[in-house]
Amino acid sequence: MKRIGMLTSGGDCQALNAAMRGVVKSLTNAEQNVEIYGFLDGYKGLIYGNFRMLTRRDFSGILTKGGTILGSSRTPFKLMREPDENGLDKVEAMKQNYYKLKLDCLVILGGNGTHKTANLLREEGLNVITLPKTIDNDLWGTDMTFGFQSAVNIATEAIDCIHTTAASHGRVFIVEVMGHKVGFLTLNAGIAGGADIILIPEIPYDIDKVVDAIEERHSKGSKFTILAVAEGAISKEDAKLSKKELKEKMKNNPYPSVSYEVADQIKKRTSYDVRVTVPGHTQRGGSPCPYDRVFASRLGSEAGKLILEGKYGFMVGIKNREIIRVPLEEVAGKLKTVAPDASIVQEAKMLGISFGD
Ligand code: F6P
Repeated sequence: MKRIGMLTSGGDCQALNAAMRGVVKSLTNAEQNVEIYGFLDGYKGLIYGNFRMLTRRDFSGILTKGGTILGSSRTPFKLMREPDENGLDKVEAMKQNYYKLKLDCLVILGGNGTHKTANLLREEGLNVITLPKTIDNDLWGTDMTFGFQSAVNIATEAIDCIHTTAASHGRVFIVEVMGHKVGFLTLNAGIAGGADIILIPEIPYDIDKVVDAIEERHSKGSKFTILAVAEGAISKEDAKLSKKELKEKMKNNPYPSVSYEVADQIKKRTSYDVRVTVPGHTQRGGSPCPYDRVFASRLGSEAGKLILEGKYGFMVGIKNREIIRVPLEEVAGKLKTVAPDASIVQEAKMLGISFGD
């Protein structure tokens, strides 16, 4: 008999359901007696003992379904050690619920913050296995996170759609792409969508270089320019500031996001008609793409194998197309970012894409 607790935490993404289905299918195919406790809305469910007993049937028909059948929420790691408004010790509460239900392990699906808490629970003596989800692809220890490829598809489609209207009107268009503090999503969607300029946090931009790239295109006869700008893109000037100085500067920043600032600066320096499009959370929505369905199913399957072997304390990831087990303590608290000199960046530059650097 295996008793498994499962939860999805942090911002949702495509293929969370596919991954959970993979875990449950692989387990229940090998073992008749499996009890599944689905904690609702992320760590909150584990803290407050809010769960649903689930059976194999609950995971049927969800391979293609976006979102998460368990619900999700953000419970910041830095607040985990702080008591809640009623004085409840959250970490103790999670441990008590785990022991009360006599769980063999927790399967936790999440991104960076989620992994820090998962590792904390491991340090506190709980059996934990994690699966890497996020459209940002910024989890250390795995080449890929599920959700990423689906989000690349959506962001690319957004750029594709902008292309036709930008061409018709001869405009400069900025498409702002999610990704939090890293540029994987913007870089991939930008290349796939044929963006002319790509701005990512790892390569701070110089607005004069951005304008030069637009002018050069126009001087060569192109009537329009597409910029893929990461929501975390930063100017060279701002990148030099300390965290505190930047926070102070941002207090007086009138722009809703970096794209609007870049648009304004382009308008001030040129006579072009500039527009901003922000696909936002559409990038996290809808059905997972086939890659993510396969990938999440493989991860889930390996998680099931780990549970059957009684091996815990791992994130299941992928390296060179092979599914791997990475010790949780190696993953927690580390961010994977785009190396500014990565070959993909060099190749993009060879194609004539400007990074504004
Ligand atoms: O981490 C996934 C992500 O979608 C980021 O790309 C984005 O910055 C953030 O979550 C948005 O968070 P929220 O859904 O809380 O607005």
